[in-house]
Order: sequence, then C-alpha cells, then structure tokens
Amino acid sequence: MKVLVTGGAGYIGSTTAKALEQAGHTPVILDSLLTGPRVFVRDRIFYEGDIADRGLVERVVEEHPDIDATIHMAARIVVPESVEKPYEYYRDNVAKSLELFDQLQQLGKPRVLFSSSASLYAMVEDFEVTEESPLDPASPYARTKRMMEQVLTDMAAATDLRAIILRYFNPIGSDPDLDSGIYAREPSHVLGQLVMAAQGLKDAFTITGTEHPTRDGTGIRDYIHVWDLAQAHVVAVEKFDEALAKVDAPSTIINVGTGDGVTVRELVKAFEEVFGQEVPVREAPPRPGDAVGAFANVDKARDVLGWTSSLTIQDAIGSALAWGRKRKSILGYD
Ligand SMILES: NC(=O)c1ccc[n+]([C@@H]2O[C@H](COP(=O)([O-])OP(=O)(O)OC[C@H]3O[C@@H](n4cnc5c(N)ncnc54)[C@H](O)[C@@H]3O)[C@@H](O)[C@H]2O)c1
Repeated sequence: MKVLVTGGAGYIGSTTAKALEQAGHTPVILDSLLTGPRVFVRDRIFYEGDIADRGLVERVVEEHPDIDATIHMAARIVVPESVEKPYEYYRDNVAKSLELFDQLQQLGKPRVLFSSSASLYAMVEDFEVTEESPLDPASPYARTKRMMEQVLTDMAAATDLRAIILRYFNPIGSDPDLDSGIYAREPSHVLGQLVMAAQGLKDAFTITGTEHPTRDGTGIRDYIHVWDLAQAHVVAVEKFDEALAKVDAPSTIINVGTGDGVTVRELVKAFEEVFGQEVPVREAPPRPGDAVGAFANVDKARDVLGWTSSLTIQDAIGSALAWGRKRKSILGYD
C-alpha cells in the first residue's frame, strides 16, 4: 500500500514511516518541517509544505494516484505553548486539518487515520478509560484534538470520508534502529527529563505532584513504546475498511495504549533498573494544569484491529537511553 503521512518528519511520523516500510508499504511524507528535522525524512518520498496547501496536496495525489490512505499526524503539540499561542494552535491543528480533510475527500482519497490523544479524558476513579469515558480536554492543544475528532465524525457521516481516530496514550522510546526519536532540545515529558538527569544534563529529576489520588501519590500514565504505536498504524491502515465494517460506522475512535497504568515513581524505579544506577530525584508540587492521568482500556483495539502492544516499558526505556546517547550524531545537539 502507499500511505500519505502528514507530519512524517516528526517523532511518531518518522517511526511510523519506518514501520510501514518494514511491512512492505510505501510512505509518502508531507511535512512543513515546522518542528520535525529533515534528517528524519531519510530517503523517503518527501513533499515539503503545508497540509493546508490544497495545490500541493493535489500535486501529491496526482503524482501518487495509488495512495490508499492518509495518516494525519501533522500538528503543533506542545501543551504549555498552546496556552500561550491559542491562535496558532487552532489555526494549524483545526483550520488547516479541515482544509486537508476536505481536499482529500474531493480528490477521492477518503481513508483518514487521525492522531488524537489521551489528554482528552477526564479523570475517572480507577484511572482506566474506555473510548466512552467522559472527556475534559484541559488545554487548547487537547481541545484542538477533540474538535478534529468531532469534525471527522461529522464529515464521515455526511460524505464518503472515512476515519479511524487513534487516541494515543504516552509514546516513549525510539525506533529500533535508532534512526529517530525525541528531538526536542529540552524534552518536557517525563522520560526525556529522566534521560537528561541520568546523563548529568540536569542535576535531578523532579517529580511534580506527589499527593494525587493514585496508589503512591504520583501521576499515572500508560507509556507505550513508539514502535508499538507505529505498528498500530500499520495494522489500522491494512485493516481500515474491515475495522469500520466491524463497528458498522463511517468513523470510529480507538485507544492505543498498553492497558497498564504506571505511576511516576514506578517509572523512575523501572528506569533505574534499566539504567543500572540511581537517578537523583526531587519532589515538587504539581504544575498548573498537570493531569493526574489515565491508562487505556485496550479491548476495542484488540477486538476491532486485532492489535495489542508487545514491547515492555523496559524495552522502551532502554531504547530511549540508547537514543539519548546517539542522537547528537544525528541531530547535531545533545
Ligand atoms: N508525542 C506525544 O506524546 C503524542 C501523544 C498523543 C498524540 N500525539 C499526536 O501525534 C502526532 C505526532 O506527534 P509527534 O510527537 O510525532 O509530534 P512532532 O512535533 O514530532 O511531529 C509533528 C510534525 O508535524 C509537522 N507539521 C506541523 N504543522 C504542520 C503543517 N501545518 N503542515 C505540515 N507539517 C506540519 C512538524 O514539522 C512535525 O514534523 C500529533 O498530531 C500529536 O498531536 C502525540
């Protein structure tokens, strides 16, 4: 199959492109390089430009009439930045995605896989969320994702557009060959911070929030190896029509996680085991807007896609550490 991957120069997009190739498919990358590094595109078919550039999307489809599906990952993704720059986030994630979806539909390319996020979920008592659990998108970023879920659902009901919406939990790790991984100079997410503390680039790892209503007071997440997440896309593309036939709907939402909740303290412990050394830890109050967290009920992914995660959190931590050691040689910075 040939698959258009918007945001294919990014962290998850470049890994997914690799997984598609390994499964015998051909990714076609469309990315503006707003944040994704060019080096992550490697030697893939690549169009540098904006998802809202209808002329460019038309050219991509003209030059690749055999595109079977689009994985739409291009977005702005930094939660605190979305609070400071709501216009840019709603413009890029909402308005531009609308243009892309309409153009794809008009060009006769109706299959869309969309990257949504577990950050939409409201806190529930046991932290396990199904696709039907209550939502409470707490940031402009999360609201852009919820809006696009609604847009896709409505467009799929009214047109021949078809959508599988994947709600990713917390991707960590890098691709198995260490060709790509987290590229932010100062990764804000928890594992990136741990890797920096382990490498001595920070004096300590700070646990923000120790009085949450979880088993040890720290936030809970469902950390999924990015390679597992990439495989979920391969399966979703391959079984796209079959999956929608199973749910008997023009669109559907599917959680993509491991099904295991891991607290920050448990993550630190697992990290130290893999790293073989203790990491200095500090404790601090939660940051404004910090979510207590959730983990995925993964029944629907198993039943509808026949997909479950297979890698462990230790695998993911090991690959994040290996990438942390290698990334300077690829990115040119620590
Ligand atoms: N990383 C996570 O923890 C996480 C969790 C849940 C969902 N997601 C979603 O997964 C997707 C991929 O995330 P990621 O972590 O790989 O992010 P990323 O920032 O590494 O990748 C996004 C890519 O989109 C490109 N891009 C942005 N705006 C564009 C535009 N208008 N036109 C063309 N290209 C554009 C960027 O250059 C970048 O390469 C995003 O939609 C994100 O919201 C990510």
